[in-house]
Amino acid sequence: MCGIVGGVAQRPIAPILIEGLKRLEYRGYDSAGVALVENGKLWRERTKGKVAQLETRVNDASPQGNTGIGHTRWATHGEPTVSNAHPHSCKESVALVHNGIIENHAGLREQQSSDGHLFTSDTDTEVIVHAVYDELQSGISLLQSVQNTVKKLEGAYALGVMYRGEEDVIVAARRGSPLVVGIGIGENFIASDISALLPVTRRFIILEDGDTAQITASEVAIYDQQGQLVERPIKESNISADAVERGEYRHYMLKEIYEQPHAIAETLEGRLSDTHVLEAAFGPKASELFDGIKSVRIIACGTSFHAGMVARNWFEGLAGIPCQVEVASEFRYRHPVADPATLVIAISQSGETADTLSALRAAQERGFGPTLGICNVPESSLIRETDLNLMTRAGPEIGVASTKAFTTQLVALLLLVTVLGRRFNITREREAIIVKQLAALPRHLEDALQLDDAICQMAEHFSDKSNALFLGRGVQYPVAKEGALKLKEISYIHAEAYPAGELKHGPLALVDEEMPIVAVAPNDDLLGKLKSNLEEVRARIIFTIPLQLLAYHVAVLKGTDVDQPRNLAKSVTVE
Ligand code: M6R
Repeated sequence: MCGIVGGVAQRPIAPILIEGLKRLEYRGYDSAGVALVENGKLWRERTKGKVAQLETRVNDASPQGNTGIGHTRWATHGEPTVSNAHPHSCKESVALVHNGIIENHAGLREQQSSDGHLFTSDTDTEVIVHAVYDELQSGISLLQSVQNTVKKLEGAYALGVMYRGEEDVIVAARRGSPLVVGIGIGENFIASDISALLPVTRRFIILEDGDTAQITASEVAIYDQQGQLVERPIKESNISADAVERGEYRHYMLKEIYEQPHAIAETLEGRLSDTHVLEAAFGPKASELFDGIKSVRIIACGTSFHAGMVARNWFEGLAGIPCQVEVASEFRYRHPVADPATLVIAISQSGETADTLSALRAAQERGFGPTLGICNVPESSLIRETDLNLMTRAGPEIGVASTKAFTTQLVALLLLVTVLGRRFNITREREAIIVKQLAALPRHLEDALQLDDAICQMAEHFSDKSNALFLGRGVQYPVAKEGALKLKEISYIHAEAYPAGELKHGPLALVDEEMPIVAVAPNDDLLGKLKSNLEEVRARIIFTIPLQLLAYHVAVLKGTDVDQPRNLAKSVTVE
């Protein structure tokens, strides 16, 4: 899982590539590189570590080429080293960047080695660049060479390829990994996602699986899996380039924590009347598809899975709808009994998580009912592959630790529980109370953020600890799990969450004066005010905020890399 960017312009391309790579670092950041063609020669620079290190080297060299590709890597095959960093090259003639995994690389490598190719990396990617080079030797174009090459590949890829013999061309290809084409004015680009290209364009084409594209400064030609020239729609993005700036905040994570009241207001916008949730928000087919539903199955990973666990309580407790929640990577390899009356809900911030997409496809193949995506990225594979969807409108989430994605997912899920629940236990009166509480949420979140200073002080009790326990009773258990995930993810403190009642069944043995314990529970005053399950809905979202702030401040005290913790990446597009 990596980020790729490329472009053909009428100005030096290097600064555009570097800016794009910085915006893609959430996808991986263990090494980075760029390649340019200039005067018929390939120029390449690669570094271990973050894009900032690459930037210094590129600025010193100040290459002037107008055509280039770049890559920021999250190692899968091969250690994070300079020789494994992309772009990979064959005989300094072809250069290539790749996001994905080539499953049949070992066989191709053996063949290519016996044909005389020298391998300079341990990656699965290098076989692709040698294969493209071999194709070019028969005198065909770069486009045809890439089209012939991808037929030999098994696995997932998004590719950007350059050839010194076609100085003003980039060829792109995608299957299973995301890739967009950015349409500029007299310049065109490719990237793993639109945020990478927002400083240069807002017009995008989302490539479909099996597509290849030839990009020049003046033209973009797209071919489908059969090699037929096709038209793909151009979409205008309304995300501003500033939306991915850090602004006055020290870290993206803190910015994103503070954006939650606004993100939730956005997620609710246009989806509520005074007394009910608007079913049309789920799309024109929603009513018809919802009518036949008897149960729901939620699949997701990480934080999105925790949102699903919270929603299970709502589906069953508020609406009376049978609900199962499962980690996507487990679901896909099991053989669950399929029921066509089960709505499959896939939750994903990115919409590109490989495990979630595979689980979704498995559910579709096995004969489950309609599918519904809850997602933050409108152009994502998840949204394209589900029957219905509800977008969370959190805006770009850059910090690897998910924050505003989680709370907006909870809001989207509660909207869904409500519209489906009308067909079960949710009465008009109950719905009116839920709507009132949802509308008040942004204000309550603002109040929760006022706890920041107090939590910052508490963080000092955690920063020198190696372990922490999080406890939540009943519906607060998934919130506790999310708090523990945040802490371990960015502060590297081992943290586990238990249902409070389980403590005495084993984990209590771990508790001594060195073990901080975080209990997620409304205080007595608040408890007194809780008159029904419905009011706990509000509490569940609000209780997340202090845990996010706690993890953030502990990580800052420990001096870890808050936005880009070690060994992780924002969007896990490989198994
Ligand atoms: O994009 P997704 O929601 O599908 O991502 C799923 C997980 O990889 C993600 O939530 C991960 O657990 C976060 N880094 C947690 O903060």
